Amino acid sequence: MDGQSIDVRKLTPCIGAEISGVDLARPLGNRSFQVIHDALMENLVVFFRDQELTHEQHKAFGRRFGELHIHPSSLSVVAEHPEVLIIKADEKSKYVAGEEWHTDVSCDLEPPMGSILYIKEVPPDGGGDTLFANMYRAYETLSAPLRRLCEGLTAIHDGAPVYGGRFGQTPKAGGFPRNEHPVVRTHPVTGRKALYVNRNFTTRIVGLRKNESDALLEMLWRHSETPEFQCRFAWRPNSIAFWDNRSAMHHAMWDYFPNRRLGHRVTVKGDRPFFRA
Ligand code: SIN
Repeated sequence: MDGQSIDVRKLTPCIGAEISGVDLARPLGNRSFQVIHDALMENLVVFFRDQELTHEQHKAFGRRFGELHIHPSSLSVVAEHPEVLIIKADEKSKYVAGEEWHTDVSCDLEPPMGSILYIKEVPPDGGGDTLFANMYRAYETLSAPLRRLCEGLTAIHDGAPVYGGRFGQTPKAGGFPRNEHPVVRTHPVTGRKALYVNRNFTTRIVGLRKNESDALLEMLWRHSETPEFQCRFAWRPNSIAFWDNRSAMHHAMWDYFPNRRLGHRVTVKGDRPFFRA
């Protein structure tokens, strides 16, 4: 019966689970969908091995979780599939996507809810893992006075320094996205609170002096990157990672230059971050 053979195995007590017994190339029945959805809510990122997906099947899996997101500036997309980002590095690369801790496109007004990365080729000598961090845990382990301070704050998330600066991309009409989000966000499904600042996009805490904002952001980033809040996924060809951008951040390890790594990412739209006390 649909969903009965699916197994969910935790990678660490804090974050990450591997799901087996499901073929994502086939339409996902309601029971399988529910098992995967619930595992994602509980573990923040879920992993699948040995999947063979066309771009259409990859998109169909993503669409079970919501409408698909189109990147605001990346030109690195598959022809005729603007929803499928190419994630590629080789001997010509000057940068790779995601090599700094971040949640995807947090500069958008409504940042993506989740991302589904399908890696087809891995570097021959290893490397290219992805690290994930539990941002609920990051929030919960702050001291009570600091939690109270952060709950009252908002921060600017700016695409320009990343896409225009580091990646050298040209903005679409209207410029790169730049938006203000709560520093602590309430997850719309679980109701839990998560820290929502990241090194890639968060440039400034609103209402603080620059030196105060810089110091607080640096402290929050370092705290969020605590190893105990993390799991690390070692890719094999045809593996998939599906992460929840509302509760986890991630970091792509570029330790394999000049070797090649190739994959595709489908991203699911999200809603505007909010804080509920
Ligand atoms: C990304 O941030 O989407 C890229 C992650 C990776 O390549 O591991």
